[in-house]
Amino acid sequence: MSGHDEGAHDERMRDEGARDERMPQGANTVATPEQMEQLGRRLAAWLEPGDLVVLTGPLGAGKTTLTRGLGEGLNVRTPITSPTFVLARTHPSLVGGAPLVHVDAYRLGSAMELDDLDIDFARSITVVEWGDGLLDGVAESWLDVAIARPTGATGADVALDAPEPRTVTITGHGPRWRSGN
Ligand SMILES: Nc1ncnc2c1ncn2[C@@H]1O[C@H](COP(=O)(O)OP(=O)(O)OP(=O)(O)O)[C@@H](O)[C@H]1O
Ligand SMILES: [Mg+2]
Repeated sequence: MSGHDEGAHDERMRDEGARDERMPQGANTVATPEQMEQLGRRLAAWLEPGDLVVLTGPLGAGKTTLTRGLGEGLNVRTPITSPTFVLARTHPSLVGGAPLVHVDAYRLGSAMELDDLDIDFARSITVVEWGDGLLDGVAESWLDVAIARPTGATGADVALDAPEPRTVTITGHGPRWRSGN
């Protein structure tokens, strides 16, 4: 998005080789599930302990698919699935790095405090699948990842898992993602 400057284009942030590409802020067109995972892998290269990523988007948007890519990029224990009975699952690092904590609260349908989950945010990279807006104001800084699914969301005549382009809009909020940090 032009004119949007939060955290954009800051080439000084880190220097870890894996980040051969620019932080994928703004709108990204994602044609297939494989590309969604790849976007997750790219994003993973920019994350560090203490970071919070909030995924929003309708049922079947691709939130878990993107999280899978994050998990690959972070080199954590797999599989990453959609847990039915647990709210949060911790995937330890396989390479001595930060664990990925995957919170899937989308189905709750009501606001709740992330605090209640007893997550060690400071040492983890936390990804939350959440309904729109429910997380507002909970954290000082977070990365908002909004997945839009143009036709499938209407449920009309597109099979739930049919490959179909998504638009993934990534926006940093708070001091962590402000330019110059
Ligand atoms: N461009 C695309 N990007 C991501 N997934 C896609 C795409 N096209 C088709 N799909 C399919 O859509 C489904 C996305 O499922 P996924 O579990 O990732 O969604 P979700 O947002 O986590 O859903 P839920 O709301 O149930 O948690 C998968 O079956 C995937 O193969
Ligand atoms: Mg999911």
